[in-house]
Amino acid sequence: NVPALKKVYAEYFPMGVAVSPRALKTDEAALITKHFSSMTPENAMKMGPIHPKEHEYFWKDADSIAAFAARTGMKLRGHTLVWHHQTPDWMFTDSKGDTVGRTVLLQRLKEHIFAVAGRYKGKVYAWDVANEVISDRRDEYLRRSPWLRIIGPDFIDSAFTWAHQADPAAQLFYNDYNEISPVKREKIFRLVKGLKDRGIPIHGLGLQAHWAVNEPGRGQLDSTLQRFAQLGVNLQITELDISVYPKEHDARARPAEDSNTAFSAAREQQQREVYGMTFELFRKYRHVITGVTFWNISDRHSWLDDFPVQGRKDYPLLFDAQLQPKKAFSDVIRFAQAT
Ligand code: G3I
Repeated sequence: NVPALKKVYAEYFPMGVAVSPRALKTDEAALITKHFSSMTPENAMKMGPIHPKEHEYFWKDADSIAAFAARTGMKLRGHTLVWHHQTPDWMFTDSKGDTVGRTVLLQRLKEHIFAVAGRYKGKVYAWDVANEVISDRRDEYLRRSPWLRIIGPDFIDSAFTWAHQADPAAQLFYNDYNEISPVKREKIFRLVKGLKDRGIPIHGLGLQAHWAVNEPGRGQLDSTLQRFAQLGVNLQITELDISVYPKEHDARARPAEDSNTAFSAAREQQQREVYGMTFELFRKYRHVITGVTFWNISDRHSWLDDFPVQGRKDYPLLFDAQLQPKKAFSDVIRFAQAT
């Protein structure tokens, strides 16, 4: 008689989870439908997997996720239409292998967005239209991706405009990470405000929330949410996980840790505190937060198993590898029930 997350949080916001088509065929499927009311394809709708060659789409994986969502009555978040990762090389090159120009790339992006957002029209309720276009460098605003270099900054406006034309009812999000850094926070704020001021259709900001046992602190998260709430758009937590490895901003200072002992009692306690604190604050900002999505279902599999150290096992989620709720799960439940 484990309580269902989605029921406990029903009056606050929908609870979501990132999925692969494979996970939906395992015993994880029952856990997903019990606890979550929304899902995001972890990779299946990205440009590389779904559009491997020019004019050639691979729909099978994304379709199977969309079918599962429809069958089980879950909401579906689309992720993502334009990104600098998992983008096929052909997108930026012509038949001779030369880099394409602005006009060609804009046309390709437009075709991609109309094909993908068009296919899932009425099935996807919200799209991460642009992902991670902001630079992490202190002195740089936008990331120097091929999109920026070839098209210029207006590729972002165009992506939102086309997504809206392809699916006028979908809520359109800008999505990014490192959102708790005060420097990046202001750049994200500027981007979303700029889109709004120019009348570009944008309805929300996605905060990825790839956090760790040592950050964010309560004050840092509170001020982040408070600042973004001023944008006047919906906020969604889109990729939540809390690594048991403390975030070490200088990679050279990162201690080598044995993944088998990393999830110690002390780390578990820290992780519980961060999960509890974050959900307490999500509740506080429930007037603007319209969704919270975990980036995977259980510690059986997480992208953090390969990042930032390849093959170093992490334990960032609420369910363990045997799909049992961890202690942090009860903290998340407890904070929903607190008055
Ligand atoms: O599909 C191939 C498979 O055919 C091949 O055999 C295998 C060998 O390595 O690779 C498979 O692709 C991997 C893919 O995940 C599917 O498992 C890629 O190498 C791997 O790079 C890819 O990682 C994904 C990552 O985005 C790519 O940057 C992670 O699963 C996914 O969780 C992660 O998600 C991102 C969000 O989209 C955006 N925000 C950050 C977040 C975490 O990095």
